[in-house]
Amino acid sequence: PMNTQSTQSTQTLGHGSYKAVTPALLSALREVVGEVNVKTDEATIQEFGKDWTEDLYSAPEVGVFPGSTDEVSAVLRLASEHRVPVVARGGGTGLSGGAIPLRGGIVLSTKRMAEILEIDHANSVAVVQPGVITQVLQEAVEAEGLFYPPDPASRGSCAIGGNVAECAGGPRCVKYGITRDYVLGLEAVLASGEVMRLGGKLLKDVTGYDLVRLIVGSEGTLAIVTEVTLKLLPLPTETRTLLAPFESLDAAAAAVAGIFQAGIIPTTCELLGQRALHAAEAHLGKQFPAEIHDAEASLLLEVDGNDSDVVEAEAERLGELCLDKLGATDLLLAGTPERARELWAIRRAMGEAVKSLGDYREYDVSVPRARIPDAFRAIDAVLEPLGVRALSYGHAGDGNLHVNVLRDELSQERWEEVLAAAGPGIISRIVALGGVISGEHGIGIIQRELLPLQFGEAELRLMRGIKQVFDPQGILNPGKLIPDAPGTDAPSA
Ligand code: LAC
Ligand code: ZN
Repeated sequence: PMNTQSTQSTQTLGHGSYKAVTPALLSALREVVGEVNVKTDEATIQEFGKDWTEDLYSAPEVGVFPGSTDEVSAVLRLASEHRVPVVARGGGTGLSGGAIPLRGGIVLSTKRMAEILEIDHANSVAVVQPGVITQVLQEAVEAEGLFYPPDPASRGSCAIGGNVAECAGGPRCVKYGITRDYVLGLEAVLASGEVMRLGGKLLKDVTGYDLVRLIVGSEGTLAIVTEVTLKLLPLPTETRTLLAPFESLDAAAAAVAGIFQAGIIPTTCELLGQRALHAAEAHLGKQFPAEIHDAEASLLLEVDGNDSDVVEAEAERLGELCLDKLGATDLLLAGTPERARELWAIRRAMGEAVKSLGDYREYDVSVPRARIPDAFRAIDAVLEPLGVRALSYGHAGDGNLHVNVLRDELSQERWEEVLAAAGPGIISRIVALGGVISGEHGIGIIQRELLPLQFGEAELRLMRGIKQVFDPQGILNPGKLIPDAPGTDAPSA
């Protein structure tokens, strides 16, 4: 059962083997980061008790704002000595509960470490602090003709450190890859306070185990990242945005693989289910063209490059392919970059729009892209008998779907029954299709209990072992990612 509580109830502190934050620890923290950077006021506690995941809430005891790697290291040393949990926090936009301090303790905000340290043209890399907002980095490098592709929907508010912790994705990842593909080097601090430097401005590095890739996506459970070296690409100057409506979700899903089979790798290949689209339109008070608004499902496609004629020709070929071979019922072009931006604003609001509809549970499954139609059928087969509806959309080119099950009018008791059946039902079918639990939002709190449906004891034992080596006291982001070992009642690390 989840150890989270609603905003109305109060948090019980000092769970399990962790200690509560004492006045002595508070004054030691103040000495490290300065009086004003240790906050226990109600507003900070409320803010740091939640992220963008459903309505989960669990209060920290203190918010700490270090300004340097040395300060992060000193905070972690203190936390280790005092056996107090530490949860790193970037923009707080996570969608699996990664930034929520399940067992109280310290939330370590990277807000004050938000500098772009270097944009290195000769090596095509940027070196940044973890608190840099993703879109701020993107705009800074674009101003210099460079490109940082990973573009989570929350890019205006999420931070690079959180992107690294969760291995964030986004629409452009189908062509350009995910956060992991861009992280060349890391500085990260262990629970002990030791500072590690891993990788660097290197495209090749097979020196030892790949700890960079291990830390990327580790959800704050292994180390706290204090500096990131990111690969950059030349900025594509030409983009064409297309919209293709389909008769059904199944038809749109079936078209996806055909695009790649025809030899086109679009920059984005987003599937928009009608319900999700309508929710986002209503949320923003803006609308897609009628042909898309009325369709049961559509694909939002982009192609990009640097030669206008080549990009134009590719867009034409993609459009014809959709219409003539893949079953699109129409084809629309975003006539101007401004129009394309408007459409993307609606698409990017989908997550927020779903949230505004009340209680929901999101499944962020990822399947081989040719299995997307099967995945939708499998999900339907689980949800229909339960009498609930899903709002679906996602990064179809990646095989990554965001399936949001809405509570609507269900009683709390019935909702809990639905969730207890839906999660295992969906995930076991997705795994049978060669898929995985999460494509980009992570495991965190909400999907932790599902992990044994995908991994056997050997895999789980290795993960627990890795956690133990990095963080023997289990103070980093306890209660996340790895399910408790069978037979343990102590809170897992
Ligand atoms: C999106 C977020 C929810 O794709 O991942 O909109
Ligand atoms: Zn997404």
